[in-house]
Formats: sequence, structure tokens, C-alpha cells
Amino acid sequence: MVLGHRLHLLEFHEQQWFPEHIRELVVETLYLIWTQVPMPSMSMAQSVVCRVIEDVLRETKCVEMVDLCSGGGGPMPSVASSLRIPVTLTDLFPQAEHWERLQRSGNTRQFLRFVKEPVDATNLSVGRLRKSNVLRTFCLSLHHFQPQDVRRFLNDTISAQQPIVFVEAQERSLRFLVPFFLFAYPATWLLWVVVLTLRIVLSNGKALLDKNWWMTLALTVVVPVVPLIVWVDGLVSGIRTYSQEEFLDVAVTCTNSASYDWSVFTKIYWGFVMTFYRGTPKKSS
Ligand SMILES: C[S@@+](CC[C@H](N)C(=O)[O-])C[C@H]1O[C@@H](n2cnc3c(N)ncnc32)[C@H](O)[C@@H]1O
Repeated sequence: MVLGHRLHLLEFHEQQWFPEHIRELVVETLYLIWTQVPMPSMSMAQSVVCRVIEDVLRETKCVEMVDLCSGGGGPMPSVASSLRIPVTLTDLFPQAEHWERLQRSGNTRQFLRFVKEPVDATNLSVGRLRKSNVLRTFCLSLHHFQPQDVRRFLNDTISAQQPIVFVEAQERSLRFLVPFFLFAYPATWLLWVVVLTLRIVLSNGKALLDKNWWMTLALTVVVPVVPLIVWVDGLVSGIRTYSQEEFLDVAVTCTNSASYDWSVFTKIYWGFVMTFYRGTPKKSS
């Protein structure tokens, strides 16, 4: 059950003044959760995102995706390589070095592009991202915006005649907030212990010569400021999450909103909740 009204409390990692290095590690943590946690619920989460996006691509005949608020990339590099369709990552605080590393790794190379300059989702001035056969995606980021900003980018999406999909993996409910409150902080700390140990093993010890490895160890494990920010911002994200009604209230008041089909649906498996908010141009328009 959705609790009360959404409250737009402060999230640390979205603030201009927030230390860049800690922001990078916070969004990298989200990427690790999406991609490296060896739990069936996480691989299912990625495959559910993949299926929802595949349906929209098929219905709308889009041949490309632009991901807004990409952070560490979230599930999009893996979605792009599974569906064999190019995705352009963008963010207000671009993570170019991390995205370059993703481009170099595995089978994502030919599908992954990115914009090095800051891209503000509420003011999309990058012309080539506005082509009508491009699907816009937002993962774990709808809650970053106040209703007036959501209306602004929905208006812009409608004027570009692009379909749009938002994915949220948190919820304004006790079934999300209570387990997250109890487990997210120690689980994130443990995740970094495992990841940093694996980096030593997989590099035959060379990671120990890298000052970035030591900096990451300091901020994630020794003084666990990164797990703390993930925990606090994660709880605030839950409280900020749009209910189905709140999102649709904004969507239907956009200019030419009637030329779009809007839907919101939730998928639950292994106790893990994901909500999808979709807008697609009506076939006749
Ligand atoms: C919770 S992270 C989500 C990262 C990634 N999409 C994922 O699924 O793991 C939210 C991202 O939104 C970005 N962001 C916040 N406000 C933004 C804006 N106005 N325009 C573009 N990106 C923004 C932040 O920099 C951050 O990387």
C-alpha cells in the first residue's frame, strides 16, 4: 500500500555541492547492485526491464534509446547488448570515465554511446537525442523531479513524439522502506568488501598499487560514507516515489497529452518491487 503523499526531501548525491568522488562511488554502487549482485531477484530485475523496453521498442518501431540520468549506467548497458540496440547514456553529472570503462568491457562496446557534457533532463537541448524514433528511458530517477519538472520533460517528449519509459525499483510503502532501513546499509558495505577483494584477486594483486583502489576502500569500507549516502538517499527516494495516480495526474495535464497512451504498472517477484511508467504516441497520431 502506498503511504501518504510524496515528500520532496533532499537527496545528497544530486546536490551541486556534493563531492564529485563520493557521487561517482554512489552511482557506481547502484550499477554494481543492478549488475553484480548474484541474486536471482537482481538478474530477474534486469530481464524484466529488458522485456518492458523490448515491448515498447517493438510497438513504437524505435531503433535507438537515450537514457537520461544514467549515473553509473544502471541496467542500460546490459539491456542494450541483450536487445542489440544502441543506447546513449547522459547525466547532469556525466560519469565519462566510468562509461568509457563500460564501453571497453564485455560485449557492450558496439551498443554503448555517451554524451560527455552535462545533459539536464529538464532541458534537453541535444538535438540528435530528439529524433522521433528514439526511446527515452529513465532508471531510478523519476523521483528526482518535482511535478513541474516532470511536466516539463513530458511536454518536451510529446513535442519530439518520442516514447518514454521510467523504471523505479523503490516504492513509498512499508514493504520497501522497512527492509531497506534494516538491511541496505550493512548489505552495501558487504558488497564493497566483496567487490574490492575480487578486484585484488582478478588483478593478481595489482589493484593494491592503484591509489583509486585505496581511496575507494577508505570511502566504502573503512569510513563507510558511501554506504551511508546510499542508505539515506535510498530511503528518501522511497519517500519521493510517485504513485500511479500522482504520475498520471501530471501526465494528463501535459500539452497534447491525449495524443499519448499512458500506463503505470508494478511487477513484484522475490519480494522485489519494480514500477514502470510508460508513455507512447497513439498509433493514429
Ligand atoms: C539514483 S541515480 C540513478 C542512476 C542510474 N540510472 C541507475 O539506474 O542506477 C540518479 C541520477 O540522476 C541524475 N540527475 C539528477 N538530476 C538530474 C537532472 N536534472 N538531469 C539529468 N540527470 C540528473 C544524478 O546525477 C544521478 O546520476
